[in-house]
Amino acid sequence: MLIQDIIRRKRDAEPLDADAIHTFMRGVADGSVGDAQIGAFAMAVVLNGMNREEAIALTEATRDSGQVLRWHDLGLDGPVLDKHSTGGVGDLVSLVLGPWIAACGGHVPMISGRGLGHTGGTLDKLEAIPGYNVTPDDDLFRQLVKNVGVAIIGQTGTLAPADKRLYGVRDVTATVESLPLIVASILGKKLACGLDTLVMDVKVGNGAFMPTAEASRELAEAIVAIGSGAGTPTSVLLTDMNQPLADCAGNALEVHEALRLLRGEGRDSRLYQVTHALATEMLVQAGLATNAADAATRLETALASGEALERFSRMVHGLGGPSDLAERAEHYLAPAPFTTDVVAPRAGTVNAIDTRALGLGVVELGGGRRNAGDAIDHRVGLSRIAALGQRVEPGQPLLRLHAASQADAEAVTRQLGAAFTLGEAGSVTPAAPIHATLRKEDLS
Ligand code: URA
Repeated sequence: MLIQDIIRRKRDAEPLDADAIHTFMRGVADGSVGDAQIGAFAMAVVLNGMNREEAIALTEATRDSGQVLRWHDLGLDGPVLDKHSTGGVGDLVSLVLGPWIAACGGHVPMISGRGLGHTGGTLDKLEAIPGYNVTPDDDLFRQLVKNVGVAIIGQTGTLAPADKRLYGVRDVTATVESLPLIVASILGKKLACGLDTLVMDVKVGNGAFMPTAEASRELAEAIVAIGSGAGTPTSVLLTDMNQPLADCAGNALEVHEALRLLRGEGRDSRLYQVTHALATEMLVQAGLATNAADAATRLETALASGEALERFSRMVHGLGGPSDLAERAEHYLAPAPFTTDVVAPRAGTVNAIDTRALGLGVVELGGGRRNAGDAIDHRVGLSRIAALGQRVEPGQPLLRLHAASQADAEAVTRQLGAAFTLGEAGSVTPAAPIHATLRKEDLS
């Protein structure tokens, strides 16, 4: 089958059969398909779309373009499951959720990413912990997933290599914005981890990857249909990103917050509600709980007994971090040298937050990357971020800035203050943290 013929068929809006899609993606992975051909194919998909069968085949071909992890030969005593998010600000769910699910009997081989644009990355947060190694060898990764029940590590070159090339070309050919390409990219990588079940957290709002609520919903529906179609039961929670999920953003600050939740504190937070809802969905979907009430009981036991925190500590230590991080977090997570408050210029109620601007503020402070490969400063970030609906008086903090220097803090103060819109109390109702849950049976 000629590659140019596959491209021509997509260019002319003819549906491609699974064979053609697998042939194309094998060529992407082994290098026999050139960048120009990848770009032409991606543009044809952007312009002409893909039907459901094509999108499932593209996802499967992405998954199968490299190693697909297998777990059950290890004699695991529970299911292999994971959660993935489309990314947000103050979204440290993974740090809490992975160990929490492990403490409930699941095995979570979580392959995570770095910060992208204004959003934070789980790996960057974990690298705030001295010694934590996000690239362990295969044996250690497998041993931790088996014995501790969770290991959060970085993408390896052997998983879904076709996606790495395809994404690189899409990034420079204006072909990122295509639902089948996005879904195949996200799910191809996740499903290569050999999961029994997957729950996705698709963010909605002004800090989300998708530009509108409708687009987030479309992505969620496509993920449920395509993930399940590719053989891995997949459900989606649509969750709010019209404000940071935690009241902090920044790598070390978010590790502190994760430890707080794992100690059973902060249960009234949106972060807790979203993490708990995702955990419930995971436990029920994978058969570790019979229903939401049963899941709640198991989650409570795992938290109250200290088992979830213990799993986090064992994972951190197993991957090279200190054994007593939970007890001596202040010692290991260096604070930023300079802190100051960004204050409200007048009285009012926080009616809107430009979440993206807050995320970009963290990047500008050095907590994220402007260019791939930049070093990041794990100490910097934001804390005590005022929530939507919160009343502030003149001179009261909208957030606390943690910076490497006074000059760095001053450089972002105006833009961060401007991210908050103050208005009349009651004129805006903040969205609920969880907008909806979508499962296969909900799709028409
Ligand atoms: N994230 C991915 O991994 N791939 C995409 O195409 C978009 C977001």
